[in-house]
Amino acid sequence: MSGTLPYREGRLCEGRVVVVTGAGRGLGRAHALAYAAEGARVVVNDLGVGPDGTPDPDSPAAQVVEEIRAGGGDAVAHGGDIATPDGASSLVHTALDTYGRLDTLVNNAGFLRDRMLVNLDEDDWDAVLRVHLKGHFLPLKHAAAHWRAETKAGRTPTARIINTSSGAGLLGSLGQGNYSAAKAGIVGLTLVAAAELARYGVQVNAIAPAARTRMTETVFAETMTAPGTGFDTMAPENVSPLVVWLGSPASDGVTGRVFETEAGRITVMEGWHPGPTEDKGARRTPREAGETVRKLLAEARDPGPVYGA
Ligand SMILES: NC(=O)c1ccc[n+]([C@@H]2O[C@H](COP(=O)([O-])OP(=O)(O)OC[C@H]3O[C@@H](n4cnc5c(N)ncnc54)[C@H](O)[C@@H]3O)[C@@H](O)[C@H]2O)c1
Repeated sequence: MSGTLPYREGRLCEGRVVVVTGAGRGLGRAHALAYAAEGARVVVNDLGVGPDGTPDPDSPAAQVVEEIRAGGGDAVAHGGDIATPDGASSLVHTALDTYGRLDTLVNNAGFLRDRMLVNLDEDDWDAVLRVHLKGHFLPLKHAAAHWRAETKAGRTPTARIINTSSGAGLLGSLGQGNYSAAKAGIVGLTLVAAAELARYGVQVNAIAPAARTRMTETVFAETMTAPGTGFDTMAPENVSPLVVWLGSPASDGVTGRVFETEAGRITVMEGWHPGPTEDKGARRTPREAGETVRKLLAEARDPGPVYGA
């Protein structure tokens, strides 16, 4: 137990303990620093891997912890792999053993292995599904088990989970079949978790961000470049304020939602809604099914374009 931050009036996450996965660089680092600035004590997780998930001996988590401490905040590093049961369990226990509580989990860690589907190796499919989808599920499961125990002990928490999806998961993205499937899965996981965990005081939302990190700065070099002056639209720090608010008690009542966020824009994504429909009241032949589909599609909105198509 340690790390009482000096209390400052009005900080959104004063006294809270926040875990951020993949927080050694990029968006996760920006979230960790933003939470610390709002008074949270932060568990900075990062396994330290290359952009495609290959091992890299340098875990950058310790550097972010140093930055937070240098700014007068409190943080601790965790270098485990969040897609393993041991890594996810020890992540939650690092928060509990160091600070005695856990309030917010930000699932953010991940990497890419982009290939067109016909060239996509099974290993690249498995690695990307594992780090994003299992890497969301396992920390969520361990954190939720803690919050359920708290609730059963009569201490229902004001707990928050923020998951990280992507426009690729919402609309699809060329060359990212594995990543798009994982990020779409994270939306489904978010909806179920929000419904299941509400009784334990847990709100669960997802973001679909866009920002300049090593994941995007080369592929989308033109749109990601920082301007010399003025608003740096693609700075990862622009995404963090929404993540901090969602992870704070101030977001009371907001759960099961997906937000696109980049630059100065926040968009509520409205998801799947029934469009044109027709009930025949009896089984159709395949030809009749086709005729109905053609008619309904003529009335329906076009889906958004797949990224890169
Ligand atoms: N940058 C964007 O525009 C963008 C867009 C949509 C979604 N995202 C998502 O945002 C999240 C953060 O991405 P980023 O752009 O900051 O990338 P990044 O590569 O800068 O950061 C990801 C971090 O996760 C860590 N990591 C990877 N596997 C891990 C594991 N198994 N355990 C613990 N840590 C692990 C890496 O070491 C790295 O530091 C990812 O989920 C990504 O898919 C990013």
